[in-house]
Amino acid sequence: MSKLWGGRFQKETDRLVEDFHSSISFDKRLYKYDIKGSIAHARMLGKTRIISQAESEALVRGLEAVLADIEAGRVEFSVGAEDIHMNVEQLLTAKVGEVGKKLHTARSRNDQVALDIRLYIKDEIEQVGALLRQLQTDLLNLAERHVDTIMPGYTHLQRAQPVTFAHHLLAYCQMFGRDEDRLQDCRRRADEMPLGAGALAGTTFPLDRKFVAEQLGFSSITWNSLDAVSDRDFAVEFTAAASLIMVHLSRFCEEIILWSTAEFSFIELDDAYSTGSSMMPQKKNPDVAELIRGKSGRVFGDLQTLLTMLKGLPLAYNKDMQEDKEALFDAVDTVKKCLLVFGRMLNTMRVKRDNMAAAARGGFTCATDLADYLVRKGVPFREAHAVVGKAVFYCLGKEQTLEQLSLEEYKKFSPLVEEDVYEAINITCCVEARQLPGGPAAEAVLESIEKIRQRLAATKTSQK
Ligand code: ARG
Repeated sequence: MSKLWGGRFQKETDRLVEDFHSSISFDKRLYKYDIKGSIAHARMLGKTRIISQAESEALVRGLEAVLADIEAGRVEFSVGAEDIHMNVEQLLTAKVGEVGKKLHTARSRNDQVALDIRLYIKDEIEQVGALLRQLQTDLLNLAERHVDTIMPGYTHLQRAQPVTFAHHLLAYCQMFGRDEDRLQDCRRRADEMPLGAGALAGTTFPLDRKFVAEQLGFSSITWNSLDAVSDRDFAVEFTAAASLIMVHLSRFCEEIILWSTAEFSFIELDDAYSTGSSMMPQKKNPDVAELIRGKSGRVFGDLQTLLTMLKGLPLAYNKDMQEDKEALFDAVDTVKKCLLVFGRMLNTMRVKRDNMAAAARGGFTCATDLADYLVRKGVPFREAHAVVGKAVFYCLGKEQTLEQLSLEEYKKFSPLVEEDVYEAINITCCVEARQLPGGPAAEAVLESIEKIRQRLAATKTSQK
């Protein structure tokens, strides 16, 4: 079939090349945005009298009919027509005849594809944002039920100081909140309408770019035609933000995997979110969490793909940029799937609060509190640290906890220790004493929950 650009050519494209450079197999998913953009463009061509009003209307009707055909599954895209842009134009011309050939007036596929991806990513940012908000809501609901569930906090994966499960969950809420913020930031920069940039140098026709931007819901237009067709920063930014979401999910998954071992036994995943072994009948594996952890690598790879694709490109458009789509689509699909399945896994898992509390009571997690107790009695912290270190060593020899030492034994380490020491090192008291804003005490945690709920409610209304 002859190409839309075939005029200057004497030979057909080699079939191998046709297949090689065609992007329709993956950019067909942009059809909605491509047609929406074309409708706005056709309306503007009519409004500015670049084409007649009747022609503009015929194009709009034709494009709407093409959209309906695609949605009804009546269309088979053609590899020969290379990409979604030329496929749509061909389908349009088949439907409306000669006037279809006027659609591409004052437009290039270079500004067209830039428009399509911007429309696409703006939509996807809304969807990923909604998933992030849902996950934060799930975390808050779970946290509310575990404000008093004491668990060990770790550094170096060694038991360090007691915290609560709620506090631990809220740490992830902070991460996902930042992720949401980053996406909104990316959206702001994607929110510029590039049509009018043409192939690279704009156009001689008096387009009304602001009219197009308004119709398509952009807050502004791009201000340099060369940059407009060669900018994919927003794709990089989205994928970088998606990479961080995956980092956060992956860290959380790693903890869930650890917590569901017999060694930790802090949680049990629901049967519906676990899998068995084909050989070992006793196994219940946290495959979902492992797979999310594993899939983080794909998204980091997508980011690398985009950065590498862009780094050596001279201005303006280069065909290399067609490679942006699969990476971006993969990042979008992966992050959405992972956020959804992660939330479900979280909501269905069983929390073994007694095991968490028992683990927090072991491992001398109240040692810092004992040192602080001595500090309050006037001992300089560094000395108190050494005294408690010796007491811990003594306990290790006797296989006892600090709570189990008698007052006489304590007196050998420091004569300043009194009966009130037992309250100071009681695990519940240790948590409750950490009331500073951002700390694990119930009061501070409830305050954090309230703050996050307010933030979620505010982002929801600001995006309406
Ligand atoms: N399929 C192309 C892409 O995705 C569309 C733009 C093509 N422009 C061109 N001059 N070949 O980048």
